[in-house]
Amino acid sequence: MMFSNIVILTGAGISAESGLQTFRASDGLWEGHRVEDVATPEAFARNPALVHQFYDARRERLGEVEPNAAHVALARLDAEWPGELLIVTQNVDDLHERAGAQRLLHMHGELTSGWCLGCNARFGWSEAMGEAAQCPACETVGRVRPDIVWFGEMPYQMERIEAALMDADLFVSIGTSGAVYPAAGFVQTAAYCGAHTLEINLEPSQGSMFFAERRCGLAGEEVPKWVGEVLGYSDHSSPISL
Ligand code: APR
Repeated sequence: MMFSNIVILTGAGISAESGLQTFRASDGLWEGHRVEDVATPEAFARNPALVHQFYDARRERLGEVEPNAAHVALARLDAEWPGELLIVTQNVDDLHERAGAQRLLHMHGELTSGWCLGCNARFGWSEAMGEAAQCPACETVGRVRPDIVWFGEMPYQMERIEAALMDADLFVSIGTSGAVYPAAGFVQTAAYCGAHTLEINLEPSQGSMFFAERRCGLAGEEVPKWVGEVLGYSDHSSPISL
């Protein structure tokens, strides 16, 4: 199969070996919290202090972790792949960019970004945010929230993602449980539009059956292996077997 346009979807599993927790632990809690208590607009309206505390802790944690071999391999693929490529991450950590990835889009927002509900500005944010945060654009205090897409909100850049999926001839999903839409449906869009589809995950995900090919294992091992295979065939005139 020949291909040149690649779309890669990543989820929490790609950052697990860096030391960041995935979301769907067996007890159904997310770092001890119910999702509805920390990751919805209603939760923020009800208890902004708790929501800020949750995201402040996660932002602080970024300073203690490093990109792993999977992030590094994808950054290498991004740098060396001559065709179209888009890494769509559901992750709000900054490990893809710290590894050097550039063709990257954060569909669920970023921990290192703030959003002012007063003036609608978005801006980089590296410290604790808290309820007393001041917007650097309009200087209003108390209306800055984490620039994170919460449950019930629309993920970012969906039009660009849909267009890339429709043009893709290879779609790869890495480290995601396939439990959260719309990302969980990307495999079907890509396959419908003719792409080969590959899942790389520790275990078969909820959407595993939609993929033409599956590789089970640690992202830190499987992703560098896969990238090596793909770059080994980066001469598009050669047929490649996936
Ligand atoms: N290598 C590969 N896969 C792994 C690894 C690893 N080292 N560790 C865990 N996984 C897999 C798990 O088996 C699981 O299928 O990664 C997946 C992580 O799934 P989730 O915790 O559900 O994370 P994700 O799919 O990214 O969640 C999607 O849900 O909570 C919301 O907005 C949040 O972006 C998040 C979205």
